[in-house]
Amino acid sequence: MKILGISGSPRKEEQSGVYQTVKAVLDATGLDYELISLRGKKIGGCIACLKCAEDNVCKVKDDMEELREKIVEADAYVIGAPNYYSGINALTRAFLERWFQFRHREGNLLWGKRAVAVGIGGTSGVPPAEEIEMYMMYNFIKPVARVTGQGAASCYSCGFGHECKVGIPYMLYGDEAKNKVLQELAPDVRKDRELMNSARRAGELLARDLAECSREEVTREMQKLLFEKMKESV
Ligand SMILES: Cc1cc2nc3c(=O)[nH]c(=O)nc-3n(C[C@H](O)[C@H](O)[C@H](O)COP(=O)(O)O)c2cc1C
Repeated sequence: MKILGISGSPRKEEQSGVYQTVKAVLDATGLDYELISLRGKKIGGCIACLKCAEDNVCKVKDDMEELREKIVEADAYVIGAPNYYSGINALTRAFLERWFQFRHREGNLLWGKRAVAVGIGGTSGVPPAEEIEMYMMYNFIKPVARVTGQGAASCYSCGFGHECKVGIPYMLYGDEAKNKVLQELAPDVRKDRELMNSARRAGELLARDLAECSREEVTREMQKLLFEKMKESV
């Protein structure tokens, strides 16, 4: 079994709440894994050229090419994204849009695999995690667990956080923000016991699910779920 971890944050790995949380989930699986950061990668969104319809291979030439084989070979995914404007950030979205290449006809390369969605935000990580789960379901991949938490918003380190009226410190502490040492208040996912426990549980659940269920079973379950969802939305 091999798990592919993806961190969609453009921040350096050491400072990224997404990267550190994805890593905590992967460590807890006890399985072989590779963790890839999308930071610095040039990946554009799907351009709807439909050249992948025939053979399930995207023809756009960018950094997604080298990731395709890793996606195909992995048995499961741990995918994390930061919350940007109450949704998934553009880099992770572009990466996931390109999974359209796997969706055509009987292209069952990803069907029945499992995933854990990780979302980290300055206040909430729920919106990107929900979006990641939806992308997974479109390829009949089962989201087995969701991990969401608070990371360090840039406002804690941008230099203007004490006075900025649209920044998170001001929203949380009001005028008191100017008397605080913001670097000390910045959340750190590694010190957040609840979040790290949730990451550990998700990793363990992923490993258990992989051991207990076959891809065929999961595919049937996910097909049923997705078709029901689609009918509801028409
Ligand atoms: C352009 C931008 C928009 C953001 N919008 C939101 C938001 O709408 N809600 C939120 O909770 N955090 C928001 N944040 C804060 C990030 O989600 C937060 O810093 C998180 O820790 C980023 O993950 P990372 O540490 O892995 O980069 C935003 C940050 C940026 C740079």
